[in-house]
Amino acid sequence: MAVLNSITSQQAIDLENNYGAHNYHPLPVVLSRGERVYVWDVEGKKYYDFLSAYSAVNQGHCHPKIVNALTEQASILTLTSRAFHNNILGSYEKYVTSLFGYDKILPMNTGVEGGETAIKLCRKWAYKVKGIQENKAKILFAENNFWGRTLAAVSSSTDPSAYKDYGPYLPGFEIVKYNDLKALEKSLEDPNVAGFMVEPIQGEAGVVVPDEGYLKKAYALCKSKNVLFIADEVQTGISRTGKLFCCQHEDVKPDILILGKALSGGVFPVSAALADDEIMMTIKPGEHGSTFGGNPLGCRVAMAALKVAVEENLADNAEKLGKIFRAELSHFAKENNLIKLVRGKGLLNAIVINDSEESSTAWDICMKLRDNGLLAKPTHGNIIRFAPPLVINEEELRDCISIIKKTITEFN
Ligand SMILES: Cc1ncc(COP(=O)(O)O)c(C=O)c1O
Repeated sequence: MAVLNSITSQQAIDLENNYGAHNYHPLPVVLSRGERVYVWDVEGKKYYDFLSAYSAVNQGHCHPKIVNALTEQASILTLTSRAFHNNILGSYEKYVTSLFGYDKILPMNTGVEGGETAIKLCRKWAYKVKGIQENKAKILFAENNFWGRTLAAVSSSTDPSAYKDYGPYLPGFEIVKYNDLKALEKSLEDPNVAGFMVEPIQGEAGVVVPDEGYLKKAYALCKSKNVLFIADEVQTGISRTGKLFCCQHEDVKPDILILGKALSGGVFPVSAALADDEIMMTIKPGEHGSTFGGNPLGCRVAMAALKVAVEENLADNAEKLGKIFRAELSHFAKENNLIKLVRGKGLLNAIVINDSEESSTAWDICMKLRDNGLLAKPTHGNIIRFAPPLVINEEELRDCISIIKKTITEFN
């Protein structure tokens, strides 16, 4: 351990470069500790974390209640597989389904597995309940969606950097323009469409917020054609946008709700698909699962993480502080022509930089933000996402707003 603790940033980066696949391009900062909204690098420099591990650490780094659940359960029982029952899974399932208002939950691990589960559920439902001819079911996805890296996920992607050279792709997926109800209505005319999977706000696409009413109307269009409305709330869920899950802003209860990331507060990979019995009970024993899905360690952690989100009113805090953040930065953007647009909901926000998608401006700004003590990451060449842990308070948020303004002013 002494070796690990005394490593320098450069040594850590070199090790990753030499021995790890180059499938990421991290900002050059090597973190070794986190607490609430703060992280520290190996040289001891302190930063505000404005990414929250892509909205997984909504409850803040190393929240004592979540860490306690982890350490306590880790010394009692970690994994049984679903070959046997365990004493935690049922209580977790009861808690989550009553909190989100569904009959059943299917527990998995990563966000992308939650998406895979939703698609499999939708296809089963299409054949068993809706009556679509076998192998004919289609699922609609929004243009610029992002839901992970499996072959199903890249088969539905419109981003060449996600799908190129990974073909052949999975059939039965169709793309429909995001935030375009006319296009959705047209695609829904096909009687073989079984589901529409959509992010209520497109996170990786650059925090793209659809028009008010889009989700409600899209849901109604799906209902009129007996098509399942599947919400991918892996990034927007667990209070991030100012509600427990984002569709609640428009009083929409998705037919299938996909959760991940902050479901476990970023402490352990836990994801889920939630649905009512008509859909969930189409999958029978042996037809889907995962060795780790529903493990007692993950269930304890997720229960603790959800309780923190509820008890600490993280949704209300995100709603209140998000308004301040957007108001302050929108005002600043009026006098600063480097910022084209400020957008978002709750504490999931982004600024669009006045430069081309191919430019390195957003990256360069993130490097300067790092130097000034705030960590953020571009989603594209010209978009920077700002998503701090939801436990941030107003004083800290205003400090961060000052850092962002100062950095951008210096950059001009
Ligand atoms: C909306 C959305 N869905 C699914 C995923 C995939 O989650 P994971 O990386 O845990 O597989 C992500 C990841 O960024 C996401 O943003």
